[in-house]
Amino acid sequence: MSTSTYPIAARRTQPGGIEPPPVHVAVIMDGNGRWAAARHLPRIAGHREGARAVRRTIEAAIRQGVEWLTIYAFSSENWRRPADEVLDLTGLLRQYLRTEIAELKASGVRLRFIGDRCRFDNGIQSDLRDAERHTTHNSRLNLTIALSYGARAEIVEAARAAAAAIRDGLLDPAKFDEQVFAGFLATAEMPDPDLIIRTSGERRLSNFLLWQAAYAELVFLDVLWPDFKAEHFAAALTEFARRERRFGARPG
Ligand code: FPP
Repeated sequence: MSTSTYPIAARRTQPGGIEPPPVHVAVIMDGNGRWAAARHLPRIAGHREGARAVRRTIEAAIRQGVEWLTIYAFSSENWRRPADEVLDLTGLLRQYLRTEIAELKASGVRLRFIGDRCRFDNGIQSDLRDAERHTTHNSRLNLTIALSYGARAEIVEAARAAAAAIRDGLLDPAKFDEQVFAGFLATAEMPDPDLIIRTSGERRLSNFLLWQAAYAELVFLDVLWPDFKAEHFAAALTEFARRERRFGARPG
């Protein structure tokens, strides 16, 4: 028997869900600091409430039949924040990994992490490996958490690996195309995002999935991340369903 409190949903959208749901939704979770400031609370209170919103979003994605969910939890630029906030954020991550993994596993969620994990301490790196290993056979929802992630660094790293493969005679430059290059990215085994949601009213990608976002629909919501609920997720999916995606072609 499952001990999970995440919704037990088949791949189909549940009644009232958006049809067809996007396969891959990516989220830039923004506004934790402003949420805390508005309440005269320390920033960590906003991040803690943000972690609760992550849980609601995972539940909403499962209910809506979304197969891939990618969340931007810590950018490579976030290391430049004051040391105490970095410590709070990494502490919250450690706590999240230790408390949520069992339930995510029981709920059929497969975890992946993208980004420069070497910058985290050995304990967190080991937790990240364990989380991936323990959920590797799950397939209800593919949850990718971007940590110490920056898209430009990811692209440079992929270019470096491709150049080395060409140098070593493992790759024919004549056969080097977009698809081959994408295979060197951290997201090699993932589909590109169909929909990218950013909260807090800011309208930019902030170095998130720049290559993969080429044809993504972008939805910007005014809600601050800690206030993000299933209804906001549904609203973004409704907006996605309304848009006509042509991938550069002319309408038929
Ligand atoms: C942006 O808000 C959010 C972050 C930098 C961190 C995101 C972290 C979480 C949602 C919680 C932890 C998540 C996991 C998976 C454990 P901001 O601080 O930039 O807000 P501001 O723009 O209002 O200052």
